[in-house]
Amino acid sequence: MAGSDNSNDKPSTRVVNAGRRKEWTQGIVNPPVWRASTILYDSVEHLRETGRNDTHHRLYYGRRGTPTQWSLADALTELEPGAEGTFLYCSGVAAVNAALLSVLGPGDELLMVDSAYEPTAAFAAGFLARFGIATRYYDPLIGAGIADLITDKTRAIMLESPGSLTFEVQDIPAIVAAAKARRVTTILDNTWATPLLFPAIAAGIDLTVLACTKYVVGHSDVMLGSVTAAPGHFAKLRDVSFQLGQVAGPDDCWLGSRGLRTMAVRLKQHGESALRIARWLSARPEVAAVLHPALPGCPGHEHFVRDFRGASGLFSFALRDGEEASRAAFIDALRLFGIGFSWGGYESLAVTADPRRRLGVPDHGGALVRLQIGLEDSDDLIADLDQAFAAFRAARG
Ligand SMILES: Cc1ncc(COP(=O)(O)O)c(C=O)c1O
Repeated sequence: MAGSDNSNDKPSTRVVNAGRRKEWTQGIVNPPVWRASTILYDSVEHLRETGRNDTHHRLYYGRRGTPTQWSLADALTELEPGAEGTFLYCSGVAAVNAALLSVLGPGDELLMVDSAYEPTAAFAAGFLARFGIATRYYDPLIGAGIADLITDKTRAIMLESPGSLTFEVQDIPAIVAAAKARRVTTILDNTWATPLLFPAIAAGIDLTVLACTKYVVGHSDVMLGSVTAAPGHFAKLRDVSFQLGQVAGPDDCWLGSRGLRTMAVRLKQHGESALRIARWLSARPEVAAVLHPALPGCPGHEHFVRDFRGASGLFSFALRDGEEASRAAFIDALRLFGIGFSWGGYESLAVTADPRRRLGVPDHGGALVRLQIGLEDSDDLIADLDQAFAAFRAARG
């Protein structure tokens, strides 16, 4: 029965039932879209009494949400064993930033992985710096060595694993252990793996962020983000998010819930096809390196094997001796891959990847291309990549 004890259910079962409490659904399979700004009260006393009590999961004012948002938030909490609660945001970037703001204050120091998503680093360099919060970057492969970077001012560590564009897999247990020893809060951007492939709260992470825009929504048509908190971290997250006026729209949350129900099967398909294509690319003479966490050549591959339940559908590769023009010729020649930002939707995408790093960008032997492998037949995708290599060779000369 939806809403009953699910603690023994497997993740793909939870993804189907999570958050479908009868209170939110009224017995309909999917929770309806409850749109609201004003909530009406029976009397002045009723209004006052509602405000005096905790408004969590109670209708109060539209900005505090409705059952449509609560259902998705509950579902994401249920997918993270040990989590206390989830807050939803209008984008992944808003979620990352709210998580950081819920922990950091003037004079604090943030340690951030050097392979973080560029807007995350930009928020640190811009907004956080302006409010007196200093950021230092660490090598994604630092592991237990992070202990040497922690000072009395360090309040949080911002992890993202695998890293954006270059896919280094971090030793999360070692970093979590070092952080806990110094009472430093860990925030993980877990968008690539989702809780299905890496349950972050169970691994000791304090705040785990998803750009739900990607795999949760799954159809490239909604912007949405979430932060799921370990016990002791949710109240502050919620408080700060309310103060920031954060609210994810009910229509977007409804689409997020709808996407979530098929996330396990989609991820399985994305993962299988992407790995097949990554292996195929590894054997191509035009390819200098494939940066896919499940392949041994990927930095931190051993952490992937130890900690992850599988891979999703996003990875990069380096075109041997490729430069700007030949890389563009390759991508332009693709028929089944769209050219565009984002990922996690049902359709394949290809983009140029030019990582900006503070500690130096490793040389992968050529210009990087990032692929999002969608749900098309992998035979067709391989045939498409094959014909695009002809365009690459012609342009490279
Ligand atoms: C790893 C990662 N985190 C966060 C985001 C931001 O999500 P959104 O585009 O929903 O703001 C992205 C977007 O590409 C991303 O790749």
